[in-house]
Order: sequence, then structure tokens, then C-alpha cells
Amino acid sequence: MARFHFVEDYEKLVADLLATLPREEAMARAVGGDYEANGRIQAAIVRHFGLRDGQMLIDLGCGSGRLAAAIGRQMEIAYLGIDIVQALLDYAAGRAPPHYRFVLHRALHIPAPDASADMICAFSVFTHLLHTETFRYLEDMGRVVRPGGVLLFSFLEFAAPAHWAQFLASVEAERLDTLPHLNQFIERPVIDLWCDKLGLRREGFIDGSDAPWPGAPPLWQSLAVLRRP
Ligand SMILES: C[S@@+](CC[C@H](N)C(=O)[O-])C[C@H]1O[C@@H](n2cnc3c(N)ncnc32)[C@H](O)[C@@H]1O
Repeated sequence: MARFHFVEDYEKLVADLLATLPREEAMARAVGGDYEANGRIQAAIVRHFGLRDGQMLIDLGCGSGRLAAAIGRQMEIAYLGIDIVQALLDYAAGRAPPHYRFVLHRALHIPAPDASADMICAFSVFTHLLHTETFRYLEDMGRVVRPGGVLLFSFLEFAAPAHWAQFLASVEAERLDTLPHLNQFIERPVIDLWCDKLGLRREGFIDGSDAPWPGAPPLWQSLAVLRRP
């Protein structure tokens, strides 16, 4: 298998979008669209799960900065965004406060010291990785988040009817050879098993149709909330 399918896939996706669309639209479409609305949802989620002013947030697979732009308008935090496509990082940096850091990083670990983050999130990232790759990231997220800190990631699951429809769309796109990247599903018992193996505590799952956070609608993808003991 090619090393890092995701770099090749996302480089091509972003290049194709930039070749055919205005930059702003290309940058939104590259990360799933709804730039402003989805950013507000992600910001509501990180706040709801405990991010406070003065803390350090790491945004794995930050893309073109949906979360960075939204949270930058709402809070005073330290922020590190990590992604594998420079064009996305450049756009994100232009939409975020100047002290936010954005790093191109193409390896399955987090480029940050032990226990240096209060929270690490990965929105719509493990939905595009192999389970082995996600497991390696989770292991390193457990190293980088401080004891008591929170890990959040969104995922797709077969039991959710909306996600099942997305699965069928992926099947069709694969048949037509138009699937731009891997679309991966993760089942809840698998996440629980990974937490057991990695010494992480699974605090909750949020259905994609629920929104326990105030002021924003549901995420659509399911959400896993983990904590480093
Ligand atoms: C669907 S987009 C979501 C971006 C962002 N989290 C958001 O919600 O706006 C997936 C992002 O993950 C990035 N990505 C893919 N594979 C990755 C990897 N192995 N490590 C870090 N980022 C990755 C892609 O470049 C892309 O920006």
C-alpha cells in the first residue's frame, strides 16, 4: 500500500477544487462545506466540553480553519492547528488570530510535547483514516493531552441512518471511481476497546442528531468524548 494515502488524496482534492472554484469556495468545499455554520458548531462543542480562556487547544486535521476562525472570535486561547495540506493551512492562518500556529505535519503523531494541551480535537479526520492510523493518533493524543484533559473526535457509524446514507453514497462513488478519499466508519465498541488498550476514559458518545451544547445545532457526525485519567 502507498505510504500515507491521505496525503495523495487530499493534495489532489484541494488542487482540483482550487483549479475549478474561487479560493473561498474551494477552501470550504475541501473540508466538507458550511464553513461558518460548521465552525460555530465545532466552537460550541469545544466550549461545552470544557475549553476555557487561557488554555491550549490542538486541532488535528484543522483543514482550512473552520474551527480556528470561529473560536478565534469567541475566546482567548493558545491554538495549534495541524494538517497535511499547505494550501489549507495558509487559508486557515488568514482566517484566524495572528498568534494561532498552523503546522504542516505528515506523520501519525502530534508534534507537541507531553502533557502540553488541555484539549485535542479531530473533527471529520478519523472519518478518512484507516483504523491503524486512528489508533496511532489516539495513542499520541493521550501522550500530548495533560492528565485530566479532553480528547474529542467525530466519527461515522453504521447504526446512524444518516451515516448509512453516506455509506451508500460512498459505495456508489467507488463504483463510478469518483470517490476522492477513504470514508471510514468506526463502531462504538471499537472506540471503547481502543480506550481500554490506551488507558483513556470514554466519557460519552453524542449522537449526530443531538446537540447538548448551547447555541448551535447538531454536528451530524457522531462525537466521542474521551479524557486522559
Ligand atoms: C473533512 S476535512 C475536516 C477539516 C477540519 N477538521 C474541519 O472540520 O473543518 C479533513 C481534514 O483532515 C486532513 N487530514 C487528512 N488526513 C490527515 C492526517 N493523517 N493527519 C492530519 N490531517 C489529516 C485533511 O487534509 C483535511 O483538512
